[in-house]
Amino acid sequence: MLTENMKDDVKEVLLSEEEIKEIVDGLGKQISEDYKGKNLVLVSVLKGSVVFMADLMRAISIPCSIDFMVVSSYGSGTESSGIVKIIKDLDMDLRGVDLLIVEDILDTGRTLSSLINILKMRNPNSVKICTFLDKPERRIADISAEYVGACVPDEFVIGYGLDYDETYRNLPYVGILKPEVYSK
Ligand code: IMP
Ligand code: MG
Repeated sequence: MLTENMKDDVKEVLLSEEEIKEIVDGLGKQISEDYKGKNLVLVSVLKGSVVFMADLMRAISIPCSIDFMVVSSYGSGTESSGIVKIIKDLDMDLRGVDLLIVEDILDTGRTLSSLINILKMRNPNSVKICTFLDKPERRIADISAEYVGACVPDEFVIGYGLDYDETYRNLPYVGILKPEVYSK
């Protein structure tokens, strides 16, 4: 990786740190109201959602638990197939739990739609999705998120947990990656 400053690879800033904070605080407030008196468990699908998860959980004012999962979606290149393999499963029993899946971005929706089917078989009380970003134009699977931070255009975005080839996750804002970076 030749990049010395990640900023040089950003074509355009889509969401600034200030805008992200406002979005996440709003989601946290809404979730805190909706899940009052429930048994809220936040499940983050690693690694992309780790930054969002860390901020979202602190924007939630009601008690909740957290857990993590690693899945891989078989597919060729950039398209996910929807066949999900669990690499690291949850530690928690989901029976009676109000599960909120925390995702970085909902793209084709294939990964999440098969993951939800797997998790529903474990008899949680409810299953909903909170995604930081949504690319509705790209949707293939019949799935939508109950909580959406922001909709983004059909461009490759990086930062705030989102990567290109495992890089740029630590960029504190969301930007569009310069196309010349992936054609290098
Ligand atoms: P899908 O919804 O099954 O197509 O896959 C969603 C996953 O693809 C996300 O969790 C991301 O890891 C990745 N992804 C999709 N679009 C982008 C993007 O613009 N930037 C970075 N990762 C993305
Ligand atoms: Mg991901």
